[in-house]
Amino acid sequence: MSGKPWGGRFSQKTEKIVEEFTSSIGTDKRLYSQDIEGSIAHCRMLLKASIITKKEASLMINGLTKIRKDIESGRFKYNDSLEDIHMHIEARLAEDIGKVALKLHTARSRNDQVALDVRMYLRDEVRCIIKGIAALRKVIVDLAGKHTGTIMPGYTHLQKAQPVLFAHHLMAYYEMFSRDAERMRDCFGRINVMPLGSAALAGTTYPVDRAFTAELLGFPMVSANSMDSVSSRDFIIEFIASASICMVHFSRISEELVIWSSNEFGFIELTDAFATGSSIMPQKKNPDIPEIVRGKSGRVFGDLISMLTIMKSLPLAYNRDMQEDKRAMFDAADTLKACIEIYIKMLPEIIIKKDAMLRASSGGFLNATDFADYLVTKGMTFRDAHSCAGKAVAFALGEKKELHELSIAEMKSFSPLFSEDVFNLLTPVSMINRRKSFGGTATKNVLSAIRKANKDIDKEMKSGKQGVKVQRHKGESRTSDIGHRISKRKKP
Ligand code: ARG
Repeated sequence: MSGKPWGGRFSQKTEKIVEEFTSSIGTDKRLYSQDIEGSIAHCRMLLKASIITKKEASLMINGLTKIRKDIESGRFKYNDSLEDIHMHIEARLAEDIGKVALKLHTARSRNDQVALDVRMYLRDEVRCIIKGIAALRKVIVDLAGKHTGTIMPGYTHLQKAQPVLFAHHLMAYYEMFSRDAERMRDCFGRINVMPLGSAALAGTTYPVDRAFTAELLGFPMVSANSMDSVSSRDFIIEFIASASICMVHFSRISEELVIWSSNEFGFIELTDAFATGSSIMPQKKNPDIPEIVRGKSGRVFGDLISMLTIMKSLPLAYNRDMQEDKRAMFDAADTLKACIEIYIKMLPEIIIKKDAMLRASSGGFLNATDFADYLVTKGMTFRDAHSCAGKAVAFALGEKKELHELSIAEMKSFSPLFSEDVFNLLTPVSMINRRKSFGGTATKNVLSAIRKANKDIDKEMKSGKQGVKVQRHKGESRTSDIGHRISKRKKP
């Protein structure tokens, strides 16, 4: 006999190396809390469905509660021969309360149990990430609010293009992170579905009340197909995909902070508390935080590829390959949370060098478009105006001047349409404030974008957020009621 809970048909003892290789306890012990909470709910459901007695239920619930305490105080002993967190807890319960513990697994399989645990775990992580992103968006909006008068060059192809408000540039990231939060909220709805009661793959012969278990665990709905319940991990893939997109945004802002803090740009400096030095070059102050965040984006993309590849081509239903899902899920969530947290702390610590930004905005022909637009307002076609401005740029380059440094006589040599009023249009402030099209960088627009962002964040924070849509199955009336009740209780 193998001595395992599943060892009935086995006559040999499992090889030690097999135990070590198949064990996932090192990773899935993080699910202990969800596993215990899920088991207690399952126990209550078994009692309600008269599958176990009141005495048995209370023995198990007390035992599980004690195990939670032992794990949290560090007294719990782990052992590879018990494979995973589910078997550890069950075995320990049997040690503590005797044979009755073995009734806990009635109408349940580790396949639906682990699906429940990861959904519960991820649900909490996504709630936390949405809150974190809201705090980050607030930090960005606050910084933008301080820089509605700070002018910088806007770039395309990393070549200076047109002047913009630094606040406008920052608010672009506000938009990106807001969409990231939306994506998280959206995937939350698909995570928040209760799989227990699907058993190994086909459902169970016991008269389980899945809606009751869902209600106890705060799920607004139960899964509709037992095979899908135990074998799908698209909710994890979706989470890591959303996390990856958020990390793309982190990598972009990080790249900008690295570039801006270079000596060549000199747009920003990180305070000493948020930068690091070089062990050999005493003059160095390195932007390690944004660099590491930029690097960590690759790590989360790797988690996404792992998860996609683990799931690719798996036949229904549960396959042990899926045990490998947790590492990617934990890592993506941990990494994203760490990046959000450090950015919330670091962004307010950036020293913005307004003068350098303005200086960079005043040279490099950033007003060439406005120079051409001026001619258009005087009746020239844009194509002709573009070519005329191009010739003026070439001439000014030869003279080592900017366009606004040309004399009116020089300008007139390119077109008689020029007169003195052109100079007013060529300053960065005028260029910015004339870009009043909705979403453009005009100060008025940026101020109202900031006002709206502040209002939106306040509203989200007050409502505890965040309008998660509850999806229900037709004919699943009990769960619908639960959905209604639960949606008032705990939202992400
Ligand atoms: N440790 C397993 C996992 O994470 C639990 C489910 C195992 N199920 C089984 N039939 N061996 O996926």
